Order: sequence, then C-alpha cells, then structure tokens
Amino acid sequence: MTWIKVLDATALPEGERKVVKLEDHDILLAHAQGEIYAMLNACPHMKLSLRKGEITEDETIVCPFHRSAFDLHTGAVKVWTPWPPMVGKLMGKVASERPLRVFATKVEDGSIWIEIEA
Ligand code: FES
Repeated sequence: MTWIKVLDATALPEGERKVVKLEDHDILLAHAQGEIYAMLNACPHMKLSLRKGEITEDETIVCPFHRSAFDLHTGAVKVWTPWPPMVGKLMGKVASERPLRVFATKVEDGSIWIEIEA
C-alpha cells in the first residue's frame, strides 16, 4: 500500500465534494461531518456516479439512483437497490451485490492523501 497526494486540503472545505482522476479511476472525495472520505465514483450496482449521494450521520453513502447504501469506512453494502419500490429489487438483479471500493485518507502537509495498492 502507498499514500498518494490527491488535492490541496483547502480545495475541499466541509460540505464539499470533488472528483479527482487517479490512474484510470475517478475518485470521489467528500468532506462531511469533519471527516474526509474517498471512494470510487462508481456505484457497484450500475457504475453510476455517487457524487450526489447522501452522506448520513452513520457514515454511509446512499446512491442517488436506486438508493443502495454503503459503509464509508469498509465499503460494505448496507442496503442493495431498494428504490424505486417493487422495481428496485428487480433492478438489483442486473448486477450481483458487491461492496463499494473505499480508500483510507489523511491530511498531511496541507494536502489530502489516499492510500492505494502499490
Ligand atoms: S446505480 Fe447505485 S443503486 Fe443503482
């Protein structure tokens, strides 16, 4: 594992989100409730952007499309495609349930860093 500098910390004040490119991936950075979270900006269900997903008080991000919910520290699925009612469960079958890829973060030397596989 290695740490990569991705953004100046001042570019991501509380309440903000930014997508940064890292190799071939779009990484979503979110500053919420005093924490900086980093995750792949692709919902595991249909690869749609999580940028507008709700971040809840229990450190979960909820996909804005079919409302799958993922733990922001582990990426574990909390709920899989509950939306829209009835249809959501059927839509969930287009892809098998899988976790969101998340990354550890730190702020050091005025920058945000994320930990990735070397
Ligand atoms: S794209 Fe996220 S739950 Fe369907």
